[in-house]
Amino acid sequence: KPPLRIALAGLGTVGAGVIRLVEANADLIARRAGRPIKVSAVSARDRGKDRGVDLSPYAWEDDMTAMAARDDVDVVVELVGGSDGPALVLARNAIRHGKALVTANKAMIAHHGMALAKEAEARGVAMRFEAAVAGGIPVIKGLREGAAANRVERIYGILNGTCNYILSTMEDTGRDFSEVLSEAQAKGYAEADPTFDIEGIDAAHKLSILSAIAFGAKIDFGSVDTQGISRILAADIAQADSLGYCIRLIGTAEADAGPDGAPGLFQRVAPHLVPFDNLLAHVDGPTNAVVVEGNFSGRLLFQGAGAGDGPTASAVVADLIDIARGMDTGFEADMAFSIPVDGLEDMAPA
Ligand code: NDP
Ligand code: HSE
Repeated sequence: KPPLRIALAGLGTVGAGVIRLVEANADLIARRAGRPIKVSAVSARDRGKDRGVDLSPYAWEDDMTAMAARDDVDVVVELVGGSDGPALVLARNAIRHGKALVTANKAMIAHHGMALAKEAEARGVAMRFEAAVAGGIPVIKGLREGAAANRVERIYGILNGTCNYILSTMEDTGRDFSEVLSEAQAKGYAEADPTFDIEGIDAAHKLSILSAIAFGAKIDFGSVDTQGISRILAADIAQADSLGYCIRLIGTAEADAGPDGAPGLFQRVAPHLVPFDNLLAHVDGPTNAVVVEGNFSGRLLFQGAGAGDGPTASAVVADLIDIARGMDTGFEADMAFSIPVDGLEDMAPA
């Protein structure tokens, strides 16, 4: 079979990770995908930057949106970031040129995911975003496929690796918030603007995507009640510890009837006191953990690295393998986001 040819936009933490992964595991990926995955073209802001990977085998595009029009590209992989701007222009261009789209960009999906998916459906191309939620954990696949037979009652968990790294490191070492945040940035966990992490916005992006899939509702980032961790002091962590708790940033979504009894959706991201005997208290570092409560499956726990180059690249390439296998032929926007449940499709936020 001919290779699946990709264009890679963004060569930062995740983009460079994807190059390393497709090179290191090329044989294994080709066997599992049924054909090789080949990088045709790459793009980023600064061509001269050392990224720790050899880019000489790949065509360089100064204008990344032009990658969408290349004849030697089947899939555009968007790893730039930002809800609007160049990432969105590229994503739309890719779909309009009949290319499949793979992205790790939760901000863009939380704001424009359904519109992009509808365009992809209309053009007969696939759109995948596993890496956008919980880094290397296949939680979108787990929800869409593993929990497909269930009515999801609640979904909650730790959805931001940077915040979890900060909170658990402060807890273990007593070190200062800003020092630990700088460390998380240096390790590649944080967003380009770390305000998105520490103010809970990134976790809210992810929660709104998971909610849409779990409850068959519209993606509604705007209705997530969001509070971050930027005001938590080392003294708060010590006080919680003395009472038998640790502090974790937790996102929760559950079906919840509004005051008029109409079905609604409760979505919240906030720091929580977690008792030491709760499993979420043992989730340390940049790890994420997502609990899905299904009416027949019971409680499912998805846990693993929520940020970083290798784990995130692993999710991006898993999407590419699915596309290479032809699993997205007949892509449907509604199925990308929701497990439609009668009566809940139009569920509004509570
Ligand atoms: P980085 O900031 O490390 O990399 C971003 C890349 O995009 C860089 O190569 C940069 O170019 C390029 N870029 C940025 N702006 C432009 C522009 N205007 N024109 C052209 N190129 C541009 O980000 P990450 O790799 O960390 O994240 C990429 C995406 O993946 C984001 O959507 C993020 O939210 C998501 N993500 C990140 C995870 C992580 O652990 N880091 C985990 C899961 C998802 P240059 O290098 O030349 O400056
Ligand atoms: N900044 C994000 C985090 C990256 O720390 O979780 C993974 O989505």
